[in-house]
Amino acid sequence: MSTSTRLRDGLVDRLTEDGTLTDPEWRSAARAVPRELFAASYFAPVAGSVPTGYRPVHEGEPGWLERIYSDETLITQLDGRTRPDDVADGAVTGSPSSSSTLPSLVLRMWQQLGAEAGHQVLEIGTGTGYSTALGAHRLGDANLTSIEYDPSVGEAAAAALKAAGFAPRLIIGDGLRGAPGGGPYDRLIATCSVRYIPLPWLHQVKPGGKILVTLSGWSYANALALLDVTGVGEATGRFLPGYTSFMIARPHDRPPRPALALLPGEERPSRIDPAILDTWTGGWVAQLAAPAAERMGAGAEQILWDVSTGSQARTTPGPERGWTVVQRGPVRLWNLLERGVQRWQKAGEPHPEGFGITVTAARQRVWIGTADGPGWDLPV
Ligand SMILES: C[S@@+](CC[C@H](N)C(=O)[O-])C[C@H]1O[C@@H](n2cnc3c(N)ncnc32)[C@H](O)[C@@H]1O
Repeated sequence: MSTSTRLRDGLVDRLTEDGTLTDPEWRSAARAVPRELFAASYFAPVAGSVPTGYRPVHEGEPGWLERIYSDETLITQLDGRTRPDDVADGAVTGSPSSSSTLPSLVLRMWQQLGAEAGHQVLEIGTGTGYSTALGAHRLGDANLTSIEYDPSVGEAAAAALKAAGFAPRLIIGDGLRGAPGGGPYDRLIATCSVRYIPLPWLHQVKPGGKILVTLSGWSYANALALLDVTGVGEATGRFLPGYTSFMIARPHDRPPRPALALLPGEERPSRIDPAILDTWTGGWVAQLAAPAAERMGAGAEQILWDVSTGSQARTTPGPERGWTVVQRGPVRLWNLLERGVQRWQKAGEPHPEGFGITVTAARQRVWIGTADGPGWDLPV
């Protein structure tokens, strides 16, 4: 037995024992697809570095294959251009722009999607092609289409899929527009996140079909949603338990901003503890309440910057106790998210699985509890 097969079997066994891999068909896909064909070299984060430094790991170096089968995300591109093979040695910094998502998440999502034999499936975000290969193994090449935005990433994935013996339909383009001439699909799975559900998806996925996608935004909060398409251009669904995050779809990324100068403004006591924004769901609610804001800072010292108006809010510990907020600009960011957090607290601070989403051509709304519960419109 080769080292690769042994390590891969070990990963599959671990994912079976911990309850991630429950479906025998997906288990045999995971046993069959060698991940090293899709991430032959990758970046490893340098522990403790600020900002995070990334060291290239090249094929064959000590620990290379072990890391591939250790259930980690393998970053394969930074800043939309730098690949591990572009860096001889030493560490580089940058923002991850493509990766092979950790196998446990990829396999959990394929199972959550409920894709079955005979289904036509559209994947957004081919990346390295690893998740595409798993899908092609389970569903058959003829039933899977995958779209990648970045041409160099898409070309590398096409070569890797061919080397692994798969031939799904591959498209290089903007997956938020759906597949040119494609559909109708029974299922759509996205391995990049979006700020709102792209309407073309609701026209390409047939009524009765499902969409599995992570909703994210400019404050870096994420939640995974499973939607049922209920009619042409309409869908409704709920958020799933767990902590799933994905890099944002490139057309939904925030525009570049100037270096931030913190300026004086209107001051008052804060009605909420700013550190609540550091919790998974507190940060998610804040992003829903102020969707054009980017959040920086942490703990009692939060900084928010509104991408569209330049409005600012920042908090500090109060002079004796509590917290002070300073706001300036036309959008009172802290008022918005303070009100949002209070509504969420009043509802008992549910986790994302306590939230749902309703999408129509006119409006996309995320709600707590039931569709008529408190909620926020997404920035469509
Ligand atoms: C996390 S990676 C995908 C992981 C991949 N499924 C795998 O298993 O290797 C996200 C990918 O989505 C791609 N992407 C971003 N925006 C996109 C868009 N609008 N359409 C298609 N792909 C997009 C990125 O270039 C990146 O390669």
